[in-house]
Amino acid sequence: MESKVLSHISNRKSELAFEPKILPQADIDTLFEAARWAASSYNEQPWRFYYASRDNQQLFEKALGVLAEGNQEWAKNASLLIFSVAKTELTLNGNSNGYAMHDTGMATANLMIQAESLGLASHPMGGFDRDKVKEIAGLTDGYKPVAAIAVGYKGDYNNLSDNNKKRVLAPRKRKDLGEIALKIG
Ligand SMILES: Cc1cc2nc3c(=O)[nH]c(=O)nc-3n(C[C@H](O)[C@H](O)[C@H](O)COP(=O)(O)O)c2cc1C
Repeated sequence: MESKVLSHISNRKSELAFEPKILPQADIDTLFEAARWAASSYNEQPWRFYYASRDNQQLFEKALGVLAEGNQEWAKNASLLIFSVAKTELTLNGNSNGYAMHDTGMATANLMIQAESLGLASHPMGGFDRDKVKEIAGLTDGYKPVAAIAVGYKGDYNNLSDNNKKRVLAPRKRKDLGEIALKIG
């Protein structure tokens, strides 16, 4: 049976091959605009996105240096390196926002699906130095780095290391629906 899932959801994958080109600011803005429309608890919109575009080589290198070495190997060719950050306290009343990470993930998912619809590739990462993000983004207490996301133009798999080529060509695996969608009762 043909899947009715939106193709931009089912076709998105964590890309490893990027073509090192500059992304126009209008496309960058569209990505963040998509993130902006995510749902959030109390409409707090706790997400912040700090980014470096390869139009500024020096800042791009600085952001790249924050990533784990294995991630730098392929992320160096991305157009954009983004760090998602969650505001951990509710502006509403100063209480801890138990949904800050959840909602920042929701906004990030919007951004990655929007990237796919623009014909771009993306790749989220947990492998990065949180303290360095705090430093380069000038984060104050109450703002927590969540993930790094590389976005860019899809590149040629022949330029990848053997290991990464194998990785990116491997079939994407998911749990069966029955394992994750469970009827109550
Ligand atoms: C929060 C998070 C952290 C991740 N960290 C890394 C990482 O540091 N390096 C990496 O290559 N991939 C990383 N990934 C990508 C996952 O490995 C990938 O999403 C998963 O294998 C499913 O593949 P797909 O995104 O292609 O569907 C991360 C993904 C998420 C959501």
